[in-house]
Amino acid sequence: MKTLVNNARILDALRRPLHDLRISVTDKCNLRCTYCMPSDHYHEHYEFLKREDLLTFEEITRIARLFVAAGVSKLRITGGEPLLRKDLPNLIAMLREINGVEDLALTTNGILLPQLAAPLKAAGLDRVTVSLDSLDNAVFQQMNGRGVRVAAVLDGIRAAEEAGLVPIKINAVIQHGVNDPGAVDLAAHFRGTGAIVRFIEYMDVGNCNGWQKNAVVSSRELRDRIAARFPLEPVGAKYHGEVAERYRYEDGAGEIGFISSVSQPFCGSCSRARLSADGQVFTCLFASKGVDFRAPLRNDASDQELAGQLATVWRNRQDRYSETRAEIASKSPALKKVEMYHIGG
Ligand code: GTP
Ligand code: 5AD
Ligand code: SF4
Ligand code: SF4
Repeated sequence: MKTLVNNARILDALRRPLHDLRISVTDKCNLRCTYCMPSDHYHEHYEFLKREDLLTFEEITRIARLFVAAGVSKLRITGGEPLLRKDLPNLIAMLREINGVEDLALTTNGILLPQLAAPLKAAGLDRVTVSLDSLDNAVFQQMNGRGVRVAAVLDGIRAAEEAGLVPIKINAVIQHGVNDPGAVDLAAHFRGTGAIVRFIEYMDVGNCNGWQKNAVVSSRELRDRIAARFPLEPVGAKYHGEVAERYRYEDGAGEIGFISSVSQPFCGSCSRARLSADGQVFTCLFASKGVDFRAPLRNDASDQELAGQLATVWRNRQDRYSETRAEIASKSPALKKVEMYHIGG
């Protein structure tokens, strides 16, 4: 297929380039993390997207190709839980074929990795990020809302390592009084294994997790706690706009990261777009609504028309939610925001 926009660098209204596309392939999940899909809201009768609402692999690949032509070089597959999407390795193989994709990654809760790590690697996936909030079974089982044991995730991480989906990153969302006492243990467990733990400040994504500012543990506090046991030194960002602040253990046992969207927002360098499983493009994790690409796609829009829509969406982008959180919370406390499982974080 012809490249349409010739990797033209499109800048948004705040002069930020477009670099990453995060692609959600399903809104379903086999967990019910309290901070993402609280089980009282996402119960057994909750209506998730229907099969026909989901973009097909061909549709996803077509949109991804247009984003790559517009400057994206990094794709991340997300959900819900992306490994629940049937035949996912086929999609990976299709995305791998796109010229200009330098990094093809996936974020998962890890439970299905024992079956899927090898086929995903064979299809061309580069690496995975696995969410794991605690090594303490009781705490993890309460947080994941489904009573899944830590061992299930550790098995998945092992499978990913054996398949070569490296470097593996481990995402831990830290909540005050819930799992923060175990944060140092998480760091200790993965030290020296090659896996990179990233501690994420608990965010006010969506409208149903009951977020309170006092449940956030700042990255600075966590870093000081970890450094008191394992001395750390900062490492520069690997690429412009990297979300995590990186540190290495002074004794050479590897690296960890901190994602501080609440205490130190990074909107100034945010170059991420998000595609939901039903084909809407969101330009911020905290957006109220997306722009529909599925309808034009299914109404025979040409690549030119879709590329034009994409360029317009990005050029008009002014999002900087995390930098304006306090102001928004006081002015519009009931602001409707997209839920995390819909756009994959
Ligand atoms: P690498 O490519 O490995 O550097 O990872 P990444 O930064 O793309 O990471 P990942 O998808 O693992 O992001 C980790 C978490 O950081 C997400 O799940 C979100 O919780 C948070 N995060 C990522 N991007 C953004 C963003 O643009 N805004 C905010 N507020 N949080 C983000
Ligand atoms: N705050 C911070 N991170 C979150 N995630 C999901 N919900 C939240 C939240 N409210 C993270 C998960 C996972 C990724 C997809 O998003 O831990 O790693
Ligand atoms: Fe599922 Fe990930 Fe949300 Fe947990 S954070 S409920 S694993 S999508
Ligand atoms: Fe980007 Fe929105 Fe997150 Fe800011 S709040 S870093 S604009 S996704």
